[in-house]
Amino acid sequence: MGRYAHITGWGKYLPQRILTNTELAKSVDTTDEWIRERTGIGERRIASAKETTAMMAIHAAREAIEVADLDPQKIDLIIVATATPEYTFPATACLVQDALGASRAGAFDLSAGCSGFGYALATAASWIRSGMHNTVLVIGSETLSQFLDWEDRATCVLFGDGAGAVLLQGKDQPGGVLATVLGSDGSGGELLIIPGGGSKHPASAETIATKLHVIKMNGREVYRFATRVIAHAAREVTKQAGWTIEKVDLLIPHQANVRILDSAAKALKLSPEKIFANLEHYGNTSAASIPIALCEAIDADRVKPGDRVVMVAFGAGLTWAACAVEWSAPKHRAAPVQVALSRVRYGFFGLRSLLARLLRRIDALFSWLIDRIEGKRGGE
Ligand code: UT7
Repeated sequence: MGRYAHITGWGKYLPQRILTNTELAKSVDTTDEWIRERTGIGERRIASAKETTAMMAIHAAREAIEVADLDPQKIDLIIVATATPEYTFPATACLVQDALGASRAGAFDLSAGCSGFGYALATAASWIRSGMHNTVLVIGSETLSQFLDWEDRATCVLFGDGAGAVLLQGKDQPGGVLATVLGSDGSGGELLIIPGGGSKHPASAETIATKLHVIKMNGREVYRFATRVIAHAAREVTKQAGWTIEKVDLLIPHQANVRILDSAAKALKLSPEKIFANLEHYGNTSAASIPIALCEAIDADRVKPGDRVVMVAFGAGLTWAACAVEWSAPKHRAAPVQVALSRVRYGFFGLRSLLARLLRRIDALFSWLIDRIEGKRGGE
């Protein structure tokens, strides 16, 4: 009997601070009218110093775990899709693993730009289907506001911060992630890029002076690529799932530009109510955009058990990813008592992590002392 990868938990985190177009227009040469007309974006969330990529990922993950009513120690693997990790290394996923007390889990970050969540979902589902893992946490988390040139009106109006997470569990019952399509075209790498900070242009006074650490984008070319690839990937994945486009109940596309969504709807001949859009409120949150949209679609009763859901993304790389999911989980919110209990549990895991760090220091101190004593004896 085959194994199926079902989504059993979901959660999101959005920073408190809202930056409206009107507010933005006070610091850069743009208008609310231009941004709304050309992109559909009205406002975006901006992370505070405390709302880092890891912190937001942890909050979204905890919500997903609570919805699935799962013990974090049952998680086999954590994948964080992000273009804006906490550090070059360690992986943000390891910080999440520690905070969740997921002591049995492997953890790594995945970099595929705005398609990252789709890539991570495909990876998780394949491992579950192969029998290698049973419970995988997939997170998309981004603090793009830290990588924007706030003087470049062509990019700074587009992006926002946030995180979304899903928990996948293996079951014998057919359904869940049924098909995935991944693609890339590295010849378009320079169309959407942060050139500085990697091994080619490591941080220096010059890379900072020439603004190499912020997003550079050829918007028109990315737009052309997106309108081509969304319809193509959506068609391909529905075919692989054994469906037709008419049978799709909801398309959740990467939330970049409402004109791109409209053009995809037209190309696929899908009615607008079958396409989920929330970019008016959050802008483009890269790898976090689809899981945040999924959570909001569930809250709005737009995703119900038995529904055929297609998620499709495009982004830096250039990359694209599409997933076909037969939804199987009923709408569920964790009970307040369950939330309170898990807070206590995470508090305990926090203490345990602190203790592990302390023990590591004591261990290092003892090793140092023993080395000194043995060195002295050897010298006698
Ligand atoms: O996750 C993937 C990430 N990226 C994307 O999805 C981006 C895809 N591309 C797009 O969404 C669109 O290309 C943009 C929204 C970025 C730009 O829209 P556009 O209709 O393609 O505008 P454009 O680049 O052709 O620029 C038209 C004009 C230019 O002025 P001129 O040269 O015609 O005088 C720009 O300088 O609009 C100007 N412009 C702006 N004006 C006011 C560009 N940005 C702004 C702005 N406010 N924020």
